[in-house]
Amino acid sequence: MRIYLETLGCQMNRLDSELVTCLLAAAGHEMTGELRQADVVLYNTCSVRQLAEEKVHSRLGHLGAMMRRGKIGAPIVGVLGCMAQRTGHALRKRHPHVSIVCAPGQLGALVGMIAQAAEGRPAVALDPERTDVPARPADGPGDWDPRACDALDLARDPSLAPSPGQAYVRVMRGCDNFCSYCIVPFVRGPEVSRRPDRILDEVKRLAEAGRRTITLLGQTVNRYRWQAGGTTVRFSDLLERLSGVLGVRRLRFVTSHPLDFGDDILDVMASSPTICPYIHCPAQSGSDAVLAAMNRGYTRAQYDDLVDRARALVPDVVLASDFIVGFPGETQADHHASAELIRRSAFRNSFIFKYSPRPGSSAAETLEDNVPDDVKKRRNNELLAVQADVSLEHYTGYVGRTLEVLVEGPSRRVDKQAHAPTPQATQLSARTRGDHIVVFDGPTDLAGQYVDVEITSATAVTLLGRRAEGVP
Ligand code: 5AD
Ligand code: SF4
Repeated sequence: MRIYLETLGCQMNRLDSELVTCLLAAAGHEMTGELRQADVVLYNTCSVRQLAEEKVHSRLGHLGAMMRRGKIGAPIVGVLGCMAQRTGHALRKRHPHVSIVCAPGQLGALVGMIAQAAEGRPAVALDPERTDVPARPADGPGDWDPRACDALDLARDPSLAPSPGQAYVRVMRGCDNFCSYCIVPFVRGPEVSRRPDRILDEVKRLAEAGRRTITLLGQTVNRYRWQAGGTTVRFSDLLERLSGVLGVRRLRFVTSHPLDFGDDILDVMASSPTICPYIHCPAQSGSDAVLAAMNRGYTRAQYDDLVDRARALVPDVVLASDFIVGFPGETQADHHASAELIRRSAFRNSFIFKYSPRPGSSAAETLEDNVPDDVKKRRNNELLAVQADVSLEHYTGYVGRTLEVLVEGPSRRVDKQAHAPTPQATQLSARTRGDHIVVFDGPTDLAGQYVDVEITSATAVTLLGRRAEGVP
C-alpha cells in the first residue's frame, strides 16, 4: 500500500517516523509524499502543548471533510505517538474516520494494525499506564525490558535515510522527572536506558552506511545509566565509547537536564574532537519559586553553576535553552529573573513557550492557570527580544573566524532573482560543530563534505561566510 506519513513534534518523533518507515518498507509498503495518492494516511503526533494537539485535530478534520466530499479516496487514517496515547479511544469518537490509534511504545505492531484496519476492523494499541510497570530488579535493569524498549530501534535499516549523512539514535526512552507542567512522563512512560552494546552496534551500522553525524536522543539524555553485573555505564562513558566509532565525525546529544550534568560529561566533551560542544539544557525559568513549583529539582544557583562549569571546561561551548512563560503564579519579578538568566548564560538560542495546562499533569490538576493570555504573550515577546539581542551578540562573535562546516546542500533562503543557482555556484547551507547554520557560496557537489569557511557577517540566526583561502 502507499503510505503518507506526516511527523509533528520533536526529534524523538522524527526518529520514530524513520523507524516506522523502515518497518513499513520491510513489509512491502511504499511511502508517498502525496496525500491524495495515499492508501494509508498516518500522523505521528505531539502532545506537549495544546497547540500541537489542535494541529492534529485540524488535519484530521480537514481530511474527514475531503473524504466526505469525495475529493480524496477513502484512505485508512491513523494517529500515532504521544497524542494517540494521551487521547486514546476518545480520538475515534471525535474523528470516526480514524481507524488506527497507536501509542509510541506500540509502533512495532503498526504493520499488523494496518492489515487489521484494511479488513475494516479498527486497531487501537495503547501503552500500559505507568502504575502497571513492575519494580526494577535491585541490580539494575539487566536484560529486563518492561516494554521491549528498543525492538523498533533494532529493526532499523541504516540505508533508508530521510536525511543522508545524519541520524538520530535513541539511548533511552521515557522520563521519570515529572516536571509539574509536563505530559511526557505519562505518554512516553518510565525512563529506561538501552543496553550500551546495542547502541554501539547501531551507531557502527549507521556510520558504515555513511551517516557521519549522530545525534543521541533521550528526554533527559544525560541521565543515561546502564547497570548490570556490577558495572555501571554512565552517559559520559557512553559518549566516550561512541566517539571512537570509525566513521563518526560529529556526535551530538539532546535534550539534557540541568540536574544530571556532571563534570565527567563536560570533561569527555572537552577531550574529544568528535563530540560537538553543544548543550541544549532547558532552564524553563530563572526564578527559584517557579522552578520549585515546576518540580524541576534544581535552583537558579545550580543552573548558573552548570553554565559556569561548561564555559570553564569546554572550549567554545554553545548553550541553548527552553523557557516557559506564564507558569501559574509567575510574577513580574520571576519573569525578569528569566530574562536575566538568558543574558547571563549568553544562550545561542532559546525556545520560548507560553504555559499550556496539560490535563493529567500535576500543574494542570492543582494550580490555577492564572496568568492572563495577554500577559503570557507579552512575556513571550519580551523574552524573545532579549534572546534576539543575546543571539546577535553570540553570532557576531564568530565574525573573522574560520570554522569547519558540514555542507548540507543548497540554502532554502536562496534569493532566486539575485542568485540564480547553478551547479558551479549557489548559496549553500552548512552547519558548524556548535550547530550554527552557515550560508556561503559554493558548488552544489560540496553537499555532504566538510569545508573551512571564513565568517564575514552574522544575523541573530545565521552566519554568513566565504570558503577559506587556500582551497581550489
Ligand atoms: N506548556 C508549555 N510549554 C511546555 N513544554 C513542556 N510542557 C509544556 C507545557 N505544558 C516546553 C518545555 C520543554 C519543551 C519541549 O516544551 O519548555 O522543554
Ligand atoms: Fe518533561 Fe521534565 Fe521529563 Fe523534560 S525532564 S520530558 S520537561 S518531565
